[in-house]
Amino acid sequence: MSIFWPYLRFRALLWALRVTGRLLLGAAGLVALAAAAPVTLVAAVGVAAAWLRGWPPARLWRAALWALPMTAVYLAGRATQSGTWQALALAPVHDYLAAWHAVTAGRVAAALVLAAPVAVPAGLAAAGGWWAWRTNTLETGLSGRTAAAPIIFDARQWNRQARTARARAAAPGTVPLIDGGGRVVMGATIRAVGHRWRPVLAVPHTAMGRHQVVIGASGSGKTNLMIRTWAGWYAAARSAHHRNGQPRPLLVVLDCKGGPDARAKAGRTRRLLHAAGTARVAIWPDETAVSLWGLPPRELAVTLFQMVETGTGPAAYYADVMQAVLTLAITAPPEPPGSGTAFLNRLEPGWLEAAYAGDPPRRAAAATARKHLGDIALRYRTLLDRLGPALDHGGSLADADAWYFILEGTREQSVAEAQALALTELVACAVTDRDAEPRAVLLACDDYSAVSGKVSLSTLYERGRSLGIGVQVSASPGRDWGRVRMSGTGSRPPPTAAFGSCAPPTPSPSANWPAPGASSKPRPG
Ligand SMILES: Nc1ncnc2c1ncn2[C@@H]1O[C@H](COP(=O)(O)OP(=O)(O)OP(=O)(O)O)[C@@H](O)[C@H]1O
Ligand SMILES: [Mg+2]
Repeated sequence: MSIFWPYLRFRALLWALRVTGRLLLGAAGLVALAAAAPVTLVAAVGVAAAWLRGWPPARLWRAALWALPMTAVYLAGRATQSGTWQALALAPVHDYLAAWHAVTAGRVAAALVLAAPVAVPAGLAAAGGWWAWRTNTLETGLSGRTAAAPIIFDARQWNRQARTARARAAAPGTVPLIDGGGRVVMGATIRAVGHRWRPVLAVPHTAMGRHQVVIGASGSGKTNLMIRTWAGWYAAARSAHHRNGQPRPLLVVLDCKGGPDARAKAGRTRRLLHAAGTARVAIWPDETAVSLWGLPPRELAVTLFQMVETGTGPAAYYADVMQAVLTLAITAPPEPPGSGTAFLNRLEPGWLEAAYAGDPPRRAAAATARKHLGDIALRYRTLLDRLGPALDHGGSLADADAWYFILEGTREQSVAEAQALALTELVACAVTDRDAEPRAVLLACDDYSAVSGKVSLSTLYERGRSLGIGVQVSASPGRDWGRVRMSGTGSRPPPTAAFGSCAPPTPSPSANWPAPGASSKPRPG
């Protein structure tokens, strides 16, 4: 009992000392803030702006740097007035005191002019420092009242950053198709991770010559984003062609979902591309046709083979016979067939034997396959009917500067898959055709998962990269992305000849039996 009261008095004294110390410290801080009122004011405005707009601290530091020329001009002016170094060093102090006098005399504008050259950069730098400390302590959990504080802080900052990005995207002129440096502007940046933050994300058009994927939930704006990047890419690549003699751009869009709104999207794409300087925009199959029969013979034979379903196991025999017949029919003298009808005529009994009359090994092969010709012709008649006339006759991809292909991937998936296979093969041949003008090609596939059955995404990317074609694909996480990824990771063997090259074919490994056009045996697709 005797030591209880002294101990209590000691604890009370300790508490009083601690509180007094804190109060004194707080008061000293307030006095310092008041004494440096102009800097405090700018710092408070900076922190408020960073909080409201979700800026990173670096944005405030950059603003401080941008304000430094004003300080330099101010110091240069003062240097001409003050004769000595001491006078120059004391000039900010004199101006600061003069600013206080101006405030007390009611001349606030004059006070601001006097204090701004030093207060603005110093205040912004201080704001950046405080904001960095504050965000860091909140994000690492060193401050905040609850355990969820870092998550709540981050979510709120994200919302503010997204609001700022939306406002920037809506403001006229802030997000152009291409920027001053000829880069393609993707849109306003919400947040940058592991990269310097910039108000808008712009990439060099040559970067789009590699592979990209646009991922977003259904209705999140993937197609709209892609349409603007196509126009931006075309404008940038066209300007590089005119300025530096780089290859002329060729844009090939596969709208793999199809449906009525595909026509509206095609119209919108055409208008934007025309505005970006694209002369000829072709919309397939509604307005323009392109001929599958323009492919080099061996690529044509492999493509036709891959377009139909073939089996494995015992059915592999039938697949081999079909492939051999296709190659015989397509490569028969004097020239490859120019249309579906001409191709089907070659499968009539007797045609192949007559065509290969001067080539006994191939004539014998045609005779062996004779009993299967009826079945094969029936399958290809059905396939060509389903593909429609827009792939049967028409020109080549070189006839237009941009192509918008509408594939009915949702309504008729198997047909759209076959069409996608043929079109990607046509793109590959447009690039590798040595007699044609070299083109910088961007192949963009919107909702690619709808047609990825025959050409998997990994094959598309790999072939695109090896041929120097830019490949851009859009997909939805969950709904599509799993299918796109699965189709490239072994759930289904990817076809081998998709996106093959149009280089002259290698000699047949067997003198007696026509070799397939692909270097390896195509698998069922
Ligand atoms: N930047 C944007 N600002 C405002 N609205 C937009 C923007 N981008 C798209 N939208 C609107 O969002 C809707 C969906 O856009 P879009 O068709 O591009 O999405 P999507 O991701 O391609 O959808 P889906 O997965 O169904 O193909 C459209 O009505 C479009 O007008
Ligand atoms: Mg879309």
